[in-house]
Amino acid sequence: MESSVVMNGGDGPKSYFKNSKLQEQILDGAKVLLRNGIEESLEIQEHSKVISIADLGCSTGPNTFSCVNTIIEAVKHKYKTSEDHALNTNDDEMLPEFHVFFNDQIDNDFNTLFNALPLGREYTAAGVPGSFYGRLFPKSSMNLMHCSTSLHWLKRVPQEVTRRDSPSWNKGRITYVKSSIPVVNAFRDQFSNDLKDFLKARSVELAPGGLLAILMMARPDDTLPPDAIYMQMFECLGDALVDAVKEGVIGEDLADSFNIPIFIPSKSEVKEVISSNNSLSIEMFQEIHYPKIPKTPGHSQMLSIHGRAILEGIVSEHFGPKLTDEIFERYPKKLKSFIETPYCARIDKQVNLFLLLKRRG
Ligand SMILES: C[S@@+](CC[C@H](N)C(=O)[O-])C[C@H]1O[C@@H](n2cnc3c(N)ncnc32)[C@H](O)[C@@H]1O
Repeated sequence: MESSVVMNGGDGPKSYFKNSKLQEQILDGAKVLLRNGIEESLEIQEHSKVISIADLGCSTGPNTFSCVNTIIEAVKHKYKTSEDHALNTNDDEMLPEFHVFFNDQIDNDFNTLFNALPLGREYTAAGVPGSFYGRLFPKSSMNLMHCSTSLHWLKRVPQEVTRRDSPSWNKGRITYVKSSIPVVNAFRDQFSNDLKDFLKARSVELAPGGLLAILMMARPDDTLPPDAIYMQMFECLGDALVDAVKEGVIGEDLADSFNIPIFIPSKSEVKEVISSNNSLSIEMFQEIHYPKIPKTPGHSQMLSIHGRAILEGIVSEHFGPKLTDEIFERYPKKLKSFIETPYCARIDKQVNLFLLLKRRG
């Protein structure tokens, strides 16, 4: 079974809606690449009157609306500057209509998403619940698909790290950051297999000449998986859990059976998987450097609220609401001591990857 990893719903103070500024910054950093990529690489049949767009792993907003807007503006610009269009005087008739599909897992708070749909938008909207690791759309039906800061979420925690009788049992930890090499490898293999499945499904759904834009968190090639700063921050929650177990607040078995299904790949780990897909050509593959986060006094508090908006769903499913509050109350202190280590200065070395893939004809 796949894990349900949806972000905190609603639009309250702990919601993803109110705590997705970091992802917004990553998206903003990639917008110019997305625009240029569409301009240069999108191929649309002359008769296309409807452009179908999907945002995969859209969550509750508002970032998804801003990236859909960027895509639509880029496609309109491409139409307006095309030779066919220059010959035709009636601008509006030449422009296509846009149909946008918002995808996320079935537990995503689609009500908050739809309540926030921008007024005066230039597209029709539909929700598509389900996992992007499988098929979501009919064959060859999509012109543009987009997926940002979502593919680090694995389909599930690798089974061997949860089994007590396995040499890869991840006892006492919730990520692979402080774990043995077999544990790290199990997470890495899961990531590669999941990304393969994701690309396989998109290869079928994209129309020939259609584009898949992916924005993902990554680490530099000269680092090991445990070096990923984001993973280190998630493991701070594991440190909070270790304390809670030592104090007898949380049972050891309950803590030992919890893992976060996330892996942050390097550029070459991603490239290896993508190159093995024969239906998609690589149009762009670029590193974007993470916006520097100011290390202000309230910084760890901000990061812990952000972490809660992302992780509370899976933590609460495993531990229940009361223990979840207990764990997250301990989180800012652990994050603060991590942020103050010299190691954390390496945050500047973290990267995001922007990929633009095209369905071969
Ligand atoms: C960090 S949020 C990113 C949301 C949005 N793209 C943004 O940039 O703000 C990651 C999203 O991916 C979704 N997600 C994770 N695994 C998924 C899957 N297998 N299928 C569909 N959505 C998934 C989560 O539910 C979550 O909404």
